[in-house]
Amino acid sequence: MPWRRPRKKVERPIEVTRSIEESLEDAAAGEEEEDSVDLAGLDDATVVEAATGEPEPERGASDLALKLRETLAREPAPARARPRATTYPESGVDLAVDAARGLRLRNPVLTASGTFGQGIEYAELIDVARLGAIVNKGTTPNMRPGNPQYRIAETPSGILNSIGLENPGAVEVARRYGVQWAALGVPVIVNVAGYSVEDYVYVVSEMAGTPGVVAYELNVSCPNVKDGMIFGSDPSLAAELTRAVKAETDLPVIVKLTPNAPDVVAVARACEEAGADGVTAINTVLGMRIDTRRRRPILGTGSGGLSGPAIRPIAVHITYQVAQAVGIPIMGAGGVTSAEDALEFLMAGASAVQVGTATFADPLVPLKVIEGLAAYVREHGLRSIREIVGTALPRMVE
Ligand SMILES: Cc1cc2nc3c(=O)[nH]c(=O)nc-3n(C[C@H](O)[C@H](O)[C@H](O)COP(=O)(O)O)c2cc1C
Repeated sequence: MPWRRPRKKVERPIEVTRSIEESLEDAAAGEEEEDSVDLAGLDDATVVEAATGEPEPERGASDLALKLRETLAREPAPARARPRATTYPESGVDLAVDAARGLRLRNPVLTASGTFGQGIEYAELIDVARLGAIVNKGTTPNMRPGNPQYRIAETPSGILNSIGLENPGAVEVARRYGVQWAALGVPVIVNVAGYSVEDYVYVVSEMAGTPGVVAYELNVSCPNVKDGMIFGSDPSLAAELTRAVKAETDLPVIVKLTPNAPDVVAVARACEEAGADGVTAINTVLGMRIDTRRRRPILGTGSGGLSGPAIRPIAVHITYQVAQAVGIPIMGAGGVTSAEDALEFLMAGASAVQVGTATFADPLVPLKVIEGLAAYVREHGLRSIREIVGTALPRMVE
């Protein structure tokens, strides 16, 4: 039926018993459905058929339709990186750090997993090659569609999320993004998630040899289905996982600590003993918001993970504690919005920081943090940013 008449816009009343967000979402869903019916109806219609709503006499597919079909069948075009400037404010300043054992980065600023897509999406907005590295979205063995709506709720000074690790699965991630990552000129750390040791090992084995990938970060906050535990909460499970992944890859393995563990320092220690090359501190903090009109939790899954400036003091404190317990590098994460915030983490013992939620409000934040750190090194006459790492730790205080 390529000659369906264009439909009239339907007014949808806002239902008073539902929240505004729900009504808007219902209206959008209804329109989307009708649009897709109409678009399907218009598929292959000529301009005359679409305009008149009447079929044209016998005809073959137009040249335009054939070209369109051919283009749609092609692989996605490679990401276009922004042209690089020759100098940036950080040029000539020694910002290099070891973000993990065997992982030297040009500067200590990374983007956090789940908040920067696969990195490719941002290449037209910012020069991603200026970043220390990017951490991709959590990658699982198979495709995951993610959790039911709502997945994000705002909170004072942060957000709650329950995305549910939506991703296309390890094989697709490697196939779709590997070549593009290498072309971007920024190192990529693959964030790995799963429900069993075998899941994590599988992802790492499937990602082996993927261009651009320099390390793995293990997201250990997923429930272990077998015995209902969370890897990141139990030092011996976290150690077992670390050992298994280390045996699978020669690339550095970083364990991302969860603040929801009863003893996060014990988990960090166990991972170091099991061979981890670094730790990230921290993942999100468990939290909940209630929709008082519906008398139900706002997030589709009830609880979610709190991120943003609200959790920064928790993250700095955990960094400070872990830095005194392990010798491997730490990446700080949690509420970094400025160079000043990043300095707090570095002085508390982190070698690098990851910027997450702040990039939703302003994608330039990671670059502004790099520029601010470079300015700090210059203003304080330091030889490198490494000189300030751990300066707030007890053993460093005179
Ligand atoms: C929307 C969203 C999705 C996230 N997805 C992941 C993920 O897939 N894997 C992971 O290890 N952490 C994930 N995180 C946690 C972040 O990487 C980061 O550890 C946390 O948000 C704290 O940093 P921030 O306050 O700067 O956002 C996610 C966070 C947000 C806000």
